[in-house]
Amino acid sequence: MDFIIDIEETVYKPAEDSYLLADNLEIKSTDRVLEIGTGTGIVAMYASKFSEYITVTDINLDACQLAYKNFKKNNIENIEILFGNLFEPVKNRKFDVILFNLPYLPTEEYDIIDDDLNYAFDGGIDGRKVIDDFLNQLKNHLNDKGKVQLIQSSLSDNQKTLDKLEKLGFVAKIAAKEHFFFEDITLINGYL
Ligand SMILES: C[S@@+](CC[C@H](N)C(=O)[O-])C[C@H]1O[C@@H](n2cnc3c(N)ncnc32)[C@H](O)[C@@H]1O
Repeated sequence: MDFIIDIEETVYKPAEDSYLLADNLEIKSTDRVLEIGTGTGIVAMYASKFSEYITVTDINLDACQLAYKNFKKNNIENIEILFGNLFEPVKNRKFDVILFNLPYLPTEEYDIIDDDLNYAFDGGIDGRKVIDDFLNQLKNHLNDKGKVQLIQSSLSDNQKTLDKLEKLGFVAKIAAKEHFFFEDITLINGYL
């Protein structure tokens, strides 16, 4: 699928991890879809080819504004954009599919970047700061038979995510992965 997108210095530029998610979406036409951390909006644009009911969020206001521009540029009118941390902007709402290409890199104090682009990478010391927060709240926002598709790295412990999902009642698996120099980027799917 070809989309025209603008990029900005403070917003994550789509990379292999974005496309690993975008190319493996499991969305039905009736599904209510939430993408957390939309960045430029690229994954949501792919998702919009499957369903009309897409909501996106980001903790980086620049990303929300850029996604708005990119949706317009591609004549996509029906994606709802909300600003905020994880599920805060969708407090009492549930979805059928939740997508998140997470900030998954183990990050030391000296790695921290001094602008909002930091949100794209910073997974805390063990890479799991955002992953665990996300998983803890996930089930409250999924309908029966709901599904999660998330991207992380072997550097932030895939097995821990699989175990956590199983504990929460999901059937979980690594659905796809790509090897880079020092890590595997993985797509983990969980099914209720
Ligand atoms: C790796 S980037 C992915 C961007 C885009 N989805 C893509 O695949 O190209 C992670 C995104 O999640 C956002 N993010 C990080 N922590 C977040 C949080 N707690 N709540 C909402 N968004 C968050 C970042 O600002 C960033 O846009």
